[in-house]
Amino acid sequence: MTVAVEVSRFNDITMAPPDPILGVSEAFKADDHEMKLNLGVGAYRTEDLQPYVLNVVKKVSCFIYSCSCLLHESVLCVYYICFEYVLKFDITFSYKICRQKILCWNGESISGTGSLRLAAALIERYFTGSKVLISSPTWGNHKNIFNDARVPWSEYRYYDPKTVGLDFDGMIADIKAAPEGSFVLLHGCAHNPTGIDPTPAQWERIADVIQEKSHIPFFDFAYQGFASGCLDKDALSMRLFAARGMELLIAQSYGKNMGLYAERIGALNVVCSSSEDAKRVKSQLKRIARATYSSPPVHGARIVANVVGNPDLFNEWKEEMELMAGRITSVRKKLYDSLIAKDNSGKDWSFILKHIGMFSFTGLTEAQIENMTSKWHVYMTKDGRISLAGLSSAKCEYLADAFIDSFHNVS
Ligand SMILES: Cc1ncc(COP(=O)(O)O)c(C=O)c1O
Repeated sequence: MTVAVEVSRFNDITMAPPDPILGVSEAFKADDHEMKLNLGVGAYRTEDLQPYVLNVVKKVSCFIYSCSCLLHESVLCVYYICFEYVLKFDITFSYKICRQKILCWNGESISGTGSLRLAAALIERYFTGSKVLISSPTWGNHKNIFNDARVPWSEYRYYDPKTVGLDFDGMIADIKAAPEGSFVLLHGCAHNPTGIDPTPAQWERIADVIQEKSHIPFFDFAYQGFASGCLDKDALSMRLFAARGMELLIAQSYGKNMGLYAERIGALNVVCSSSEDAKRVKSQLKRIARATYSSPPVHGARIVANVVGNPDLFNEWKEEMELMAGRITSVRKKLYDSLIAKDNSGKDWSFILKHIGMFSFTGLTEAQIENMTSKWHVYMTKDGRISLAGLSSAKCEYLADAFIDSFHNVS
């Protein structure tokens, strides 16, 4: 019997480039230096640099496991009823200001990434030719998501390397220059990767320009709570837009602020200006979700719904959020103090204190980043971003030494 030699039908598939974040994590794992630091991953770590399970999440998980025989039943519809609370919580003030004139669809989805991808699919189907404006720089996956959805995008200026701060004039000019009706992707707070957020007055100006150009604001809200430590304050940007009666999209993640990374829980909120629009948008989003992941995971959704829907648990969460953000602020301060004490070159390190949230954009060159890793065992992304969530106060002085050496001795 002759065996037919199969011709490979997968020959034409080219190798995808490796994920840069996975590369950083793997190299970090393989390094056994005692002072090694992983500043590449945007996940919260304790002072011992360990993952953190929030107490309120432990409590609610135990409750959920103890009382439900429906625990692993799938939710047939993509809408988990308790998510009503989440919506009200995200934009609660504007919701009240507008006396319920704003109607929203609020659907649970697969964390921040899944919410962004769902919105991208909606844009691709119903806003043909519209493009999404994204900040330069931005979280690396934004480009992947819009490319994957075949949604055209372009960049608006955001980071000014001279000031290590916001290029506000550039941002406004680019948003103004974009074709009318573009989607403007804004980081709700704690911008990734720069750690630079607009001031409240700047947010107002951004909203003016977006309104003038009939653009649609699209908030990526992955770090609520990590900018100021206060969940409410961090919602200022989108509440300000919603209070103007603007239609908007919010891709919300509960991965970071509830420490539910692997539960993949988030929500896509769409604020529409009429109930008819909201119903149609909802029907289409449900259809897209049904065809891509059918129904969402429920465990994380139940945790979020229980925490947000119960005033005592909600307060407990707010307190834990404050503690997590507070730890990051304190290592920022300690790192800055160590740099000032050790470096007498006159270099301005104040950007470390000015940036907020988990990240800082250091301005280190590729060669300097290479020195940080090969000589100092400090792992970070190639764009020069560091995540302060991966730093302990015990290692601030060590990191300061690494920075000073890399900035001054490597060009
Ligand atoms: C700016 C930004 N948006 C969205 C996400 C996606 O988060 P999730 O893990 O919830 O998908 C991240 C995660 O790092 C992020 O940094």
